[in-house]
Amino acid sequence: MTFPTVRLRRLRTSPTLRAMVRETTLSPAHLIYPLFVVHGHNVREEIGSMPGVFHLSVDQLPREIDEIAALHIPAVILFGLPAHKDAQGTENFAREGIVQQAIRAIKHANPDLLVITDVCLCEYTDHGHCGIVRDEHILNDETLDILGRVAVSHADAGADVVAPSGMMDGMVGAIRAALDRAGYQDVSILSYAVKYASSFYGPFRDAAQSAPAFGDRRTHQMDPANAREALRETLLDVQEGADMVMVKPALAYLDIIWRVRERFDLPIAAYNVSGEYSMIKAAAARGWLDERAVALESLIAIRRAGADFIITYFAKDAARWLQSLE
Ligand code: PBG
Repeated sequence: MTFPTVRLRRLRTSPTLRAMVRETTLSPAHLIYPLFVVHGHNVREEIGSMPGVFHLSVDQLPREIDEIAALHIPAVILFGLPAHKDAQGTENFAREGIVQQAIRAIKHANPDLLVITDVCLCEYTDHGHCGIVRDEHILNDETLDILGRVAVSHADAGADVVAPSGMMDGMVGAIRAALDRAGYQDVSILSYAVKYASSFYGPFRDAAQSAPAFGDRRTHQMDPANAREALRETLLDVQEGADMVMVKPALAYLDIIWRVRERFDLPIAAYNVSGEYSMIKAAAARGWLDERAVALESLIAIRRAGADFIITYFAKDAARWLQSLE
């Protein structure tokens, strides 16, 4: 049967009918909000390259957490800006490190809100790289021990999920072993399994002050031209014990989200990264795009591609917009 018997427009005639046949859903339950935590008191400073996103000191977190929970967003992911950077990134696994303080403050304010932590060296090292560096080379195996220590220190502070983002080989296995040894069998691992060497991270490196002092991240992050390799990355992380995997960035990599979805059955996250956010913000500020419409369209597209949940700087706004659509 074809036209004129079949008319696909028939199912688009009313908003109610369109809603009934909609294939993909987007709700606040699918969103994770990133927080950038800094030392100091009363700090609430907007990040220049990311309008609407703030550097927050720990004392600001209870208020922020109330707002996030009231919007029915289930989780936050934490990034910390240390007081001091060194070759090993010592503050990364310090009991009084900025992220460790933030985890305790959030869990104290609201034990039900899930706390995910980014586990990487780049924000903490003076050279800005994701691993231990010798002669301008990033050493893989020497970095794994530190990643394990960082993950355990986050678990000590009360983190629910650790998310290694450094693309070191073996990082998931090393972190799983370290967590289990420390008695944290129930802390789960969300691996940034498929992370591309992307220029869409530009605004984040400003926000996290984590731009590499020399070179780039192409010896560990993936080549944007590769797709099959993403499945190899995912398979290894699954074998090493990842509970969930992430594809990052999201919008230029929807095909990758889809391929990972087809092949694997564990939960998949997508990271709608800083550049994807700031592009929409900048165009909207000029009146060139409708921010709300474009952001919601992007998020539903990421869900349609196969992501179970999305890390996005739009989380709070999107949750508000979705509520007003109900
Ligand atoms: C590394 C990390 C990065 C992002 C999240 N974790 C930056 C990088 O790899 O350079 C990027 C997030 C974004 O752009 O929003 N710790």
